[in-house]
Amino acid sequence: SITHVILTGGIGSRLWPLSRKSQPKQYLEIFEGKSLFELTVERNRGIADKIVVVGNRDNCHLSHKVMDKSQAPYINIVEATPRNTAAAIAFAAFAAQADDILIVTPSDHIIDDMEKYEEAIKQGIEKASNGAIVTFGIQPTKPETGYGYIERLGDKVISFREKPNEFTAINFLTKGNFLWNSGMFCFKASVFLEELKNFQPEVYEKAKLAWENNDNGNLDLELSLAIPSISVDYAVMERSKKIKVVPSEFIWSDLGSFESVYDYFATKGHPVDAKGNMVIGTDVFTAFVGLRNTIFVFTPDANLILKKSHSQDVKYVYNDLEKEK
Ligand code: GDD
Ligand code: MG
Repeated sequence: SITHVILTGGIGSRLWPLSRKSQPKQYLEIFEGKSLFELTVERNRGIADKIVVVGNRDNCHLSHKVMDKSQAPYINIVEATPRNTAAAIAFAAFAAQADDILIVTPSDHIIDDMEKYEEAIKQGIEKASNGAIVTFGIQPTKPETGYGYIERLGDKVISFREKPNEFTAINFLTKGNFLWNSGMFCFKASVFLEELKNFQPEVYEKAKLAWENNDNGNLDLELSLAIPSISVDYAVMERSKKIKVVPSEFIWSDLGSFESVYDYFATKGHPVDAKGNMVIGTDVFTAFVGLRNTIFVFTPDANLILKKSHSQDVKYVYNDLEKEK
């Protein structure tokens, strides 16, 4: 069977103050009244026959609300604390049958062109049935440092490089045979677990122990804290020899940082002034003097003034605020 695994435990710290621990960006109902989480569920309903939601106990009521509305049957895995994507995917794989094909997607992306999306997923499922760990590659348009890069020859993956520095990313773009990792994956549950066990035995063992002691899908805090926190990209994708890529042509945007929100809003006609400045979150007239490429983000209880090129650094503000608590 084909299972859609939705990862929704991230807090989107690079989108602070729009995104908060109690209201992460994937639940903001700002896309014609729908949230990115809801759009993710809708997009994959015709493709998969099961849904597994892996989320966090601080905000899982937000995903429950959407799932109840969609009336799709689903399994709920509730993390006591975020342990990053390697562990989150492992829980879903432990919950599945060995031969189940998992389509793992984030819950916070914009995807357009359903026909091309379904075509890509179809190809992914085929490769996954043959034992591959499938990534979906997007043609890069700039040396973004927040993404993973897939070096490829046809559908063969030569290397996978997560979040390179800018110098390296520019080099990748010049070379031409690199795709962005869209952050969606497709594989058999057993194939993923084997590779995780090979490359990150501690994540595998500790996640397994936590999963085996789950209480109705709820994971124990102490057992979870013992799991090393590492993303699937570093844990498996950079190291496995089973990676294949499906070069994909659907329209894709990871609204991961304010720079990508800016790019997306700009194409949707959101106002940008002559110096490249943008206001997000308020219609109140705002003037920028002597500033270029600045983003002003307004929320009722916190504002952000950001040089667009520093969008990746917003997470440090979030991290500092969390520390002070
Ligand atoms: N359940 C759960 N638990 N979900 C999590 C956790 C966790 O601990 N941590 C992150 N997630 C979810 C996030 O909510 C998001 O939907 C997805 O997993 C990916 O995590 P991000 O933190 O957004 O990763 P990233 O954007 O830095 O990088 C990934 O995505 C890029 C494309 O958007 C990588 O796969 C990159 O290679 C890729 O280019
Ligand atoms: Mg992301």
